[in-house]
Amino acid sequence: MPDTNLSSAAEHGLEHIEHKPDWRENIGANDSTNPTIGEMIETRLSRRAALLGIAGAGAAATLADQLLNSAAAVAQPAGPSSLTFTELAHQLSQNDAVAEGYETQVLIRWGDPMLPGAPAFNPNSVTAEAQAKQFGYNCDYIDFFPLPLGSNGSDHGLLAVNHEYTNTNLIWAGLGSGSQARTRTSAAQVAAELEAHGMSIVEVRKTNGRWGYVADSRYNRRVTMTTPMAISGPAAGNDRLKTSADPTGTRVLGTLNNCAGGNTPWGTVLTAEENFNQYFGGDRAKTPHKATFDRYTVAGSANTYNWAAHQDRFNIEKEPNEPFRFGWVVEYDPYDPASVPVKRTALGRFKHEGCHHAIDRSGRVVIYSGDDERFDYVYKFVTARAWNPNDRAANRDLLDDGTLYVAKFNDNGTMNWLPLVHGEGPLTAANGFANQADVLIETRRAADLVGATKMDRPEDVEPNKVNGRVYVMLTNNGNRRAEQVDRVNPRANNTQGHVIEMIPPGAGTREVDHAAPEGRWEIFLMAGKPGIDPGARYHRATSANGWLSCPDNCAFDSKGRIWIATDGAPTAAGVADGVYGADTSGPGRALTRLFYQAPIGAEVCGPLVLNDDRTMFIAIQHPGETSGSTFENPSTRWPDFENGTPPRPSVIALVKKDGGVIGS
Ligand code: FEO
Ligand code: CA
Ligand code: CA
Ligand code: CA
Repeated sequence: MPDTNLSSAAEHGLEHIEHKPDWRENIGANDSTNPTIGEMIETRLSRRAALLGIAGAGAAATLADQLLNSAAAVAQPAGPSSLTFTELAHQLSQNDAVAEGYETQVLIRWGDPMLPGAPAFNPNSVTAEAQAKQFGYNCDYIDFFPLPLGSNGSDHGLLAVNHEYTNTNLIWAGLGSGSQARTRTSAAQVAAELEAHGMSIVEVRKTNGRWGYVADSRYNRRVTMTTPMAISGPAAGNDRLKTSADPTGTRVLGTLNNCAGGNTPWGTVLTAEENFNQYFGGDRAKTPHKATFDRYTVAGSANTYNWAAHQDRFNIEKEPNEPFRFGWVVEYDPYDPASVPVKRTALGRFKHEGCHHAIDRSGRVVIYSGDDERFDYVYKFVTARAWNPNDRAANRDLLDDGTLYVAKFNDNGTMNWLPLVHGEGPLTAANGFANQADVLIETRRAADLVGATKMDRPEDVEPNKVNGRVYVMLTNNGNRRAEQVDRVNPRANNTQGHVIEMIPPGAGTREVDHAAPEGRWEIFLMAGKPGIDPGARYHRATSANGWLSCPDNCAFDSKGRIWIATDGAPTAAGVADGVYGADTSGPGRALTRLFYQAPIGAEVCGPLVLNDDRTMFIAIQHPGETSGSTFENPSTRWPDFENGTPPRPSVIALVKKDGGVIGS
């Protein structure tokens, strides 16, 4: 095998590498006819006012002090930021980089053995049998559960990691480049892809400042697309969830396109099924469910995986109900490798990006989730009962009973949470909803009917425990036209995305009312390159390296500072995806600073700052995913940089070399 490592970047031509291609996540658009708020208020809100993107009267005073017209942003030292690391410079590279004084530690890579009998990674032999015992592909959400259960340490625990999808072109030789490779797989390759999806639970430990995983831990587990799981909640057993393999509608094999996630106060993982639609093949018109499949773009897309060709359950003409068994939030217990994961249907069915929780002042658990599609919605689920901190088992089925709400953002800076409850408003038999199961199975159509606000692709929605605000990463929406802008999505052709804050009553106090039916919102930042992307807006001291594109996931440290991971940097402009830190309050609010730069082609997922603020875990997903990149000649061979070895999605730890607190 020739040394393609150094030649590949030139061969692929960095100038030809474009923004993240849409085919990867198979992002469609909500074309339902309920109007955007922008269409409704068009007559009374000038476009210029909308483009200012400033929230209601109360918000304007604080934001106006901090946000400056983009053209004025210039490179400066940290200034008022509490984050004092030396900022990286924007660059594209086959390798990654972190701020001076920090180091990257590769913790676990795609293909690393983690179960008894697992073979060592062999890039020329990626099989279902091997993948079932190795770390999966395209790591996304990361969570950390201290060991032993009930402790609160930051040096030893279980890492729970999602594996979202497969870059088929970078796994096997001879399939060509891009998404077309997905359509050329053999039965054996499809079987391996099923095992490369799902989750990994792996014991990890920091010893003498260095993170490593425990290969023979009794906790280690792979959950894949063939792992038996249960379906619970109001939609369990519904006719549309029944298949020939499961006439009860309560059992399913596997979980799919697990993107981001969350956890519960009782120490279980929530994993979000996102773009499940792209794994199914067949003709929607030859099923009883064409309209529903249209709304979720199930099957029929150009770059669908080849799974239906080899396994009947992915062929919607043969198993028309199988897609209804995906698109849910799945709960599992990382401390019990024998536990059966459960799909919690009460939380709704859509392309869940993630599912982070907050605890309401009443003790009820509130789970926030975005539906990552152009013009789709932000949701929250509120449990019917308070959780029980003294009896873990008592919370086992807490997520089966509660109320799902969808967000409506008002032009005046307020917001309402609209309940998706059968029998209320338009959610009746007259509109095709016979019961709550129907509302949940077709969550998107229910949300369309109640008049939710169409958003610019909601990715991570995550509460900040320090200030009680909930941050929404709106990654981009190039389809929004000028007449569709509103104050919460204030930019037409929003290719850069933005970040908003939802502010529940009581935010900033000890009594945050996350369950409340109303709240306020503000815009935190408008992404993009100042002076180039219209409407880009940050703190006035944000430097020439501190701007970002396409916010995707975020994390908060114990001081309440936000760490934003991006997916969609403008590589044509020489910018890689990365991690940016910023204060969320005080004089450095929204002053974003570049902390970590990903290898070429990769997005950064799952940022997680451990309780002691001394470790940040991140997932490097799809390194080498660039135009023309192949197994034979990838645009990077990160992190191994060995001839013949393709890039390997990996979880890495970022630590300060002196062991100190991240960011300061
Ligand atoms: Fe899987 Fe919306 O990112
Ligand atoms: Ca992703
Ligand atoms: Ca994402
Ligand atoms: Ca994304």
